Amino acid sequence: MAALIDTTTETAIDPRGVNSGVTPVTYGHGERPPRGDYAQARADYTCEQDWAAYSAADHDLYRRLYERQAAQLRGLACDEFVDAIGQLGSPAHIPRFDALSEKLQRATGWQVVAVPGLIPEEAFFSLLSRRRFPVTGWIRKPEEFDYVVEPDVFHDLFGHVPLLFNPMFADYMQAYGAGGLKASRLGSCEHLARLYWYTVEFGLIDTPTGLRAYGAGILSSAGELRHSVTSREPQRLGFDLERIMRTRYKIDSYQPTYFVIDSFKQLFDATAPDFEPIYQRVAGLQELAAEERLPTDRVF
Ligand code: PHE
Ligand code: FE
Repeated sequence: MAALIDTTTETAIDPRGVNSGVTPVTYGHGERPPRGDYAQARADYTCEQDWAAYSAADHDLYRRLYERQAAQLRGLACDEFVDAIGQLGSPAHIPRFDALSEKLQRATGWQVVAVPGLIPEEAFFSLLSRRRFPVTGWIRKPEEFDYVVEPDVFHDLFGHVPLLFNPMFADYMQAYGAGGLKASRLGSCEHLARLYWYTVEFGLIDTPTGLRAYGAGILSSAGELRHSVTSREPQRLGFDLERIMRTRYKIDSYQPTYFVIDSFKQLFDATAPDFEPIYQRVAGLQELAAEERLPTDRVF
């Protein structure tokens, strides 16, 4: 799941992130309206999963996505992810969110809630800060088997939910949500969004057995998982909060740069301080291109 991030076009979204009954018209940097039926969403953008509406073909597509991805986790995905993937239940069906929430609630106090698709930043942050992870209801079309532009139910569940079973990561996600509400007030959402991108979506972790993926964008990607961990092409740099906040990212290609954490504890501790002075400092520094390399970078 990602928040709807757009600053370029006029939008029909209430700036407080409340669903005012109008469809969000923009997201990312494109002009397409987001998929999904926003008319059914509540004020906080959550809706019913409507599990009965999935067709046999939908379930089958989920199973094929799941199996392709599960088959390549070994040696590429971090242990915390691999250990928890079974919590999603049988790959034969798109999981029922309420059953999954019960397990998650017991493990870390999190729940998954259905949303029509991308939602505005404030609504997204608000859900995270209450330990609710928004999961898109719809599944991609068969012709999008290899690539889908917007997050669908497979990306959101397979990519994001397993690590929510990890207590440290679960706490990080909640802190991120609370930090997001604060960043909105301070006008610093873009800087904070880069942290989400380079950790929650595309993060790598250094382990005794080598680099592994923990970011949902790579773990749910057929091609980028292997690429991010093993290809010689991208650069892999040590986690550096301010460096990340300054670094733009690509939304339409594999990442030229991945940031590597040493542990989830490191990630949690490094992001615990008050970001307000950090946002101020970063605002005065030059932005960095996605592929840039600095002399101070710790290269893996
Ligand atoms: N410490 C951050 C702040 O004061 C909050 C935060 C924590 C943001 C974790 C992101 C991740 O804004
Ligand atoms: Fe995501």
